[in-house]
Amino acid sequence: MTTAEQPAPSPVARLFDAVADDYDRTGIDFFGPIADGLLDGLGVRAGDACADLGCGRGAVTVGLAERALPAGRVVGIDISDRMLEHARTLLAEHGDGVELRLGDASDPDLESGAWDVVASSLVLFFLPDPLAALTRWVGLLAPGGRIGIATFGDQDPVWSAVDAEFGPWLPPAMRDPRTTGPDSPFATDAGMEDLMARAGAGDVRTTSARVDVRFGDAAGWERFSRATGQRAMWASLPENEIDGVRARAAAHLEGARDADGRVVVWQDVRYTWGTAPPAQ
Ligand SMILES: C[S@@+](CC[C@H](N)C(=O)[O-])C[C@H]1O[C@@H](n2cnc3c(N)ncnc32)[C@H](O)[C@@H]1O
Repeated sequence: MTTAEQPAPSPVARLFDAVADDYDRTGIDFFGPIADGLLDGLGVRAGDACADLGCGRGAVTVGLAERALPAGRVVGIDISDRMLEHARTLLAEHGDGVELRLGDASDPDLESGAWDVVASSLVLFFLPDPLAALTRWVGLLAPGGRIGIATFGDQDPVWSAVDAEFGPWLPPAMRDPRTTGPDSPFATDAGMEDLMARAGAGDVRTTSARVDVRFGDAAGWERFSRATGQRAMWASLPENEIDGVRARAAAHLEGARDADGRVVVWQDVRYTWGTAPPAQ
């Protein structure tokens, strides 16, 4: 297929292409600590073959490379060209041991049964059929392989109130990209464990961690939110509503000042773990 015949990027690819330059570069730690929890739980060993699905700018991929290379192998897949460009820069020093591919994590073009570690941080809820994707991911695992998925757990009520300010203008398909409605697998530990078990994984379990997100002030929150998938929330606002939402968000954030006067909110991260399907 020639370049001219490539399909147009999907809305989520366009969203992450647009935020890529600023993503994880606002000076506010978020994706790094979440990735660290995933890496710690996966027990990556030197020599492991590792896949990072929805690798983005490489928050998890770099940790996989540090642990598994040079004896092992690391592949990162993402649907956003621009996120991958930044990941290539970050991972350049690891040379041929890391391969970064443009592709759809829903059905990754990877060998089945060949991967010691499958990792995915903050991606599964973007996919149209999470169970089908997760079933494919579990199928990638070699005997003894481990899978770890990071998704969002509970959130500081202040942050929820801030996000709710965008609610009236969100198109239905964008209502809470974290899909935390009561019927969603992403709403509870049990929902995600059930999804992982239905995908065929063994030894399914959950751990969680709390990340303190140090916005500093309302401007820090806005900078952060415009540099993540939440940029889509801003894009949904009519021009004449932006100032009002910004002011109401700032008022909510006043309720999250710490003893030093800085705005800090918390986000729980849910890690759902599994292993290669038990031998029949
Ligand atoms: C919140 S970011 C997480 C990136 C990275 N895992 C991290 O922890 O920083 C979500 C990523 O998923 C990617 N993504 C969304 N849908 C995808 C799909 N169908 N296939 C591959 N990547 C996808 C986006 O392009 C983006 O890089």
